[in-house]
Amino acid sequence: MKRNNLLTLILLTVSLAVSAQKTTQELVINTQKPGAVIQPTMYGIFFEDINFAADGGLYAELVKNRSFEFPQALQGWKSAGNVTVREDGPFERNPHYVRLADPGHAHKRTMLENEGFFGIGIQKGKAYRFSVWARVPNGTPAKIRVELVNLLRTAHGNMYFNQEKVTIDSKEWKKYTVTMNAKEDCEKAVLRIFLEGTETVDLEHVSLFPTDTWMGHENGMRKDLAQALADLKPGVFRFPGGCIVEGSELATRYQWKNSVGPVENRPLNQNRWQYTFPHRFYADYYQSYGLGFYEYFLLSEEIGSEPLPILSVGLACQYQNDDLSAHQPVDQLDEYVQDALDLIEFANGSTDTKWGKLRADMGHPKPFNLKFLGIGNEQWGPEYPERLEVFVKALRQKHPEIKLVGSSGPSASGEQFDYLWPEMNRLGADLVDEHYYQPEEFFLKSADRYDNYSRKGAKVFAGEYACHEKGKGWNHYHAALMEAAFMTGLERNADVVHMATYAPLFAHVEGWQWRPDMIWYDNTRVARTCSYYVQQLYSLYKGTNVLPLTMNGKPVIGAEGQDGLYATACLDKDKELIYIKVVNVTEEALSVPITLKEKKKKGGTADREVKCIRFSCTNPDAENTVDEPDKIKPQEHQFSITGNTLQARIPAESFTIYVISSK
Ligand code: AHR
Repeated sequence: MKRNNLLTLILLTVSLAVSAQKTTQELVINTQKPGAVIQPTMYGIFFEDINFAADGGLYAELVKNRSFEFPQALQGWKSAGNVTVREDGPFERNPHYVRLADPGHAHKRTMLENEGFFGIGIQKGKAYRFSVWARVPNGTPAKIRVELVNLLRTAHGNMYFNQEKVTIDSKEWKKYTVTMNAKEDCEKAVLRIFLEGTETVDLEHVSLFPTDTWMGHENGMRKDLAQALADLKPGVFRFPGGCIVEGSELATRYQWKNSVGPVENRPLNQNRWQYTFPHRFYADYYQSYGLGFYEYFLLSEEIGSEPLPILSVGLACQYQNDDLSAHQPVDQLDEYVQDALDLIEFANGSTDTKWGKLRADMGHPKPFNLKFLGIGNEQWGPEYPERLEVFVKALRQKHPEIKLVGSSGPSASGEQFDYLWPEMNRLGADLVDEHYYQPEEFFLKSADRYDNYSRKGAKVFAGEYACHEKGKGWNHYHAALMEAAFMTGLERNADVVHMATYAPLFAHVEGWQWRPDMIWYDNTRVARTCSYYVQQLYSLYKGTNVLPLTMNGKPVIGAEGQDGLYATACLDKDKELIYIKVVNVTEEALSVPITLKEKKKKGGTADREVKCIRFSCTNPDAENTVDEPDKIKPQEHQFSITGNTLQARIPAESFTIYVISSK
């Protein structure tokens, strides 16, 4: 080590040691009086098809516009030779297909090329399943040649790195499949389909999936992204949004019935995030519904979450529609209410019922055990409760077992918020959805937000929130630290807050409309953000009951008087562990004695093990990216204490969890 560096290190060590002397608060945890129950649903996930979260994201399909149903039928495709689009195909709700015919000269080629979503991400050694519905209208067998192509490849003569031939042998529409083992890595490949010979071939629903999807499902999810969700151990899983529930007009609202049944026949829907922000316009952003309600319920089950679907209340996006005539009249909500009842039947109904049978036909005879349902996203004005009331009456009558979630509008305070909360209580909603995308001051000040909420009536679902530190950065460490501080208040108020979901969940680095987001990815890589790790730590160390905690002899009541120290403690009755979460938002390290008030131990003052999980970073602007996904991660170490006091040294701007046995 050079002399100068050594000197700097010594000075740094001395100054750290000096600042670490500062003792501020003493925390005392009463382990004998477990308080409010922490709901298993407490920390969850919010999924919306924004930022190419579904097609081009979690949904592992690699072909864009696979059914030729985009308004411009060949959007996402290039064609050469003799290619025509026809519309009397085998799938009623997706009638378009392409005809590949003789290019008219032996040296010409008829072909199609799909660009994928920002290219097609291919990983060497992995298998990819190409499938297509096809026929030879003249009955004479014909061949197509399928290629994975690297357009930037200069090292070898061939542009393709994988090539297969498929014989189409029937006059009737049939599905043909071929699996290719990728010979190269290519972040932005294209898929090419050539007509071989001169016989005409018709193609529909052209698809390419990695075979190694989450749980190996054929119509599956990208494994790395689904794994990131599973690793959160989310208690609840909200779907499909967000504004996407509402539609820019009612016709384009999310209609769950269009998202189930054979994928080939799920009709395309518009995606409002194509055009909502003109500075992030994506002309090719649509919803294929390949990731539909069946896949959602299945994924919820597989990752251990309670599904929480949100359905349209009959109001089109109110930001985009001032005029009441844009919405479904209150006395004409039957179809919407029926959709809600039928969704419950699809999830839970016996296989003798219409929708329960469809679930079974799709592969899941057992019910999904749906317990929650939200009606309406960010709605406001009297037009919301008057519509919600119609749903509540019908749902309570037929399904009193389902807990209903209402909305408090788009803001976490103000006129609409103050109007809607009592309205939700009047209607008997079980939970009320609150949204707050706010700057850091809000998160620091709001750790006491729920301390004085009424303990009667509906519970809170913090359904969309994230710290937006405008001008500083996005998904950087400091924003996540603010969220960690705020979340002490969620946990402390677990008797009134039953669910919380950070939003949005996913973003493609080349296709985002909204940031920050919890998980970023490109075609082959994924980055778990600092906010992801904060959510994960709360979720993994959730506990079953809040434990009373005092700071300098007074109950912890949020941010006031805490000098930048935020804390919460809970008991995990099942695992017999105590979790103590401490967030230091100051720029100084703090010495914090933490005492457990507990029954006298028989063994006297024997040593006990403490696991310490620490999330910290000296650069508040640092973030994890797809290039550097592991830059900032929680670190674990063990130590032991004697007796019941832990002399904690909490680094500046850090989030720490201590895990101690409660036995
Ligand atoms: O999360 C992005 C959007 O923010 C959601 O669609 C909407 O509910 C909120 O306004």
